[in-house]
Amino acid sequence: MKKKILAVLLASAMVFSLAACGSKTDSSTGGSTSSDAASNGKTIGVAMPTQSSERWINDGANMKKQLEELGYSVDLQYAEDDVQQQVSQIENLIASEVSCLVVAAVDSSALVNALAQAKTADIPVIAYDRLLMDTDAVSYYATFDNKGVGTKIGQYIEEKADLKNLTKDDPKTIEFFMGSPDDNNALFLYNGLMEVLQPYLDSGVLVCKSGRTSFDDTCILRWSQETAQQNCENYLSGFYADEDLDICATAFDGFAYGCKAALEGAGYTSENWPMVTGQDAELMAVKNIIAGTQTMSIYKDTRILAEKCVTMVQAVLEGTEPEINDTEQYDNGKLVVPSYLCDPVAVDKDNYQKEIVDGGYYTEEELAS
Ligand code: BGC
Repeated sequence: MKKKILAVLLASAMVFSLAACGSKTDSSTGGSTSSDAASNGKTIGVAMPTQSSERWINDGANMKKQLEELGYSVDLQYAEDDVQQQVSQIENLIASEVSCLVVAAVDSSALVNALAQAKTADIPVIAYDRLLMDTDAVSYYATFDNKGVGTKIGQYIEEKADLKNLTKDDPKTIEFFMGSPDDNNALFLYNGLMEVLQPYLDSGVLVCKSGRTSFDDTCILRWSQETAQQNCENYLSGFYADEDLDICATAFDGFAYGCKAALEGAGYTSENWPMVTGQDAELMAVKNIIAGTQTMSIYKDTRILAEKCVTMVQAVLEGTEPEINDTEQYDNGKLVVPSYLCDPVAVDKDNYQKEIVDGGYYTEEELAS
């Protein structure tokens, strides 16, 4: 009999620890603050896409910290870019009766049913950074000006490559590495970028020797660094054997790392290193900017994005008014989602100190290590 009880105890202990191992949950209760009354007992489910890129780790950490400071508990999940995993994580958060869901989607079209379940369960949903498409379950959207990101990359290229003063007899070569087709941000960025660069492609001041300039031809599924590297290797060997590539117009720091590896592999040196753009101002990217292997990035202060998103959580749970600055651009197919767009900033070796170090995003020590 004793043996039997022991076996049962052991079995349930195993189930318990397996359950604990199986979930990538970071759930904890925040300290008490003045708004504890409103937040009392409420858990916010935060579903993030991946830990493979530094920006999302910072996003998750900022959201958790700021929500906990208001007295909420936070259940933070990362899906590692696995669409099905994110669906189950969201379904589990709904089943555990979180008070509100904050979602940065891997592929938002795959979340439509899960988000409908949230709506049925009266759980409000906030879209974080990436718009949630084809659903009426979403209340607000906190993001950066995604078209503005593309415009800023385009304007940077225009200015630093001196495109206004070039002619088609003295053109610059350019290749494009755009974001994931299942991420609404990627097309916004492309449109902003092309608004600036298309006239130069048309006039022959910019020459894309691969001929791949459309979004469909240049988008990279799930923002894969490996695919960016492969594409860059193919472009360099297929089209740039006799002439250097001058500009890698990339939409993501991860792509800039992929291009860097391809360029090194093809024998590029500081003598003929192209202009390489990026997005997110990851620590590694800023180090590469200092070292000269990446030219610029788009700095997105994720602390501010989290702040704006938290005001939206408070709005849906406490009946307050969130700050909204765009009610036109983000039509998800079901509704135009009231949004707050934070301001992206182009950074390079000349202003990273002022924007990033003085702003307390990274320290000199972090950048030097
Ligand atoms: C974000 C970018 C990020 C990209 C890849 C996009 O949705 O807006 O900041 O670089 O995803 O993670």
